[in-house]
Amino acid sequence: MYQELVLNNDPKSVISETIRTLRTNLQFSSIDKKIRTILITSSVPGEGKSFIAANLALAFAQSGSRVLLVDCDIRKGRQHYIFGSHNRAGLSNLLLENVEEKYAEYIQETKIKNLSVMFRGVTPPNPSELLGSAKNKMLIDILKENYDIVIFDSAPINGGLTDSLIMGTLVDGVVIVAAYKETSISLLNSTKKSLENVKANILGVVLNRANNKSKKYYGHYYG
Ligand SMILES: Nc1ncnc2c1ncn2[C@@H]1O[C@H](COP(=O)(O)OP(=O)(O)OP(=O)(O)O)[C@@H](O)[C@H]1O
Ligand SMILES: [Mg+2]
Repeated sequence: MYQELVLNNDPKSVISETIRTLRTNLQFSSIDKKIRTILITSSVPGEGKSFIAANLALAFAQSGSRVLLVDCDIRKGRQHYIFGSHNRAGLSNLLLENVEEKYAEYIQETKIKNLSVMFRGVTPPNPSELLGSAKNKMLIDILKENYDIVIFDSAPINGGLTDSLIMGTLVDGVVIVAAYKETSISLLNSTKKSLENVKANILGVVLNRANNKSKKYYGHYYG
């Protein structure tokens, strides 16, 4: 079940331990203001955003929090695939409706206790506009009231898309995923600068890495 959810399938692996550490760090990362909404983003495609977002959501659910995972990579998100489901309707569709009345219809429970998901929905012509709309802001407030923690999977930042920068301004904190030995420091710096320019609250960087010998993946978290 849910092959990529390593915290479920291989809880003793290094990557599972790392993601639990990430969860703990996030739980303690803010003393004054509790972090309730977290955006997972990265510089370029394929660094592991969706994988980390799904497993981090699972880690919070396992610790007893009521968690919602939202796929706000409206263009290419694949959380529905990770959760063995379909993407007939999701965030993009909801944002065309009355979000207050309809949001619950777009949330699905998973087989995992405490973990619900909202998939990305049908790709619209104007994802940035949807994410930047007043409705999306209102939706995030509603979701925050209804869940202990909301994790947003997102699109990469360095392709010139503003989607994740917009989301960065709407959430309590942002975690940047970088692929070990693949993401260059200058690329990572430019991602960090872009997020700082919009005054996003950067919580830390996850170094997601593959160990070539064992073909097993690790990750490290730097606050
Ligand atoms: N730490 C890891 N351990 C095992 N597999 C991983 C790990 N990180 C990523 N992967 C795998 O690498 C592939 C790419 O990861 P993922 O889809 O999460 O990247 P992404 O940053 O979301 O990409 P995109 O920008 O295209 O959305 C997936 O098949 C995922 O399962
Ligand atoms: Mg992804």
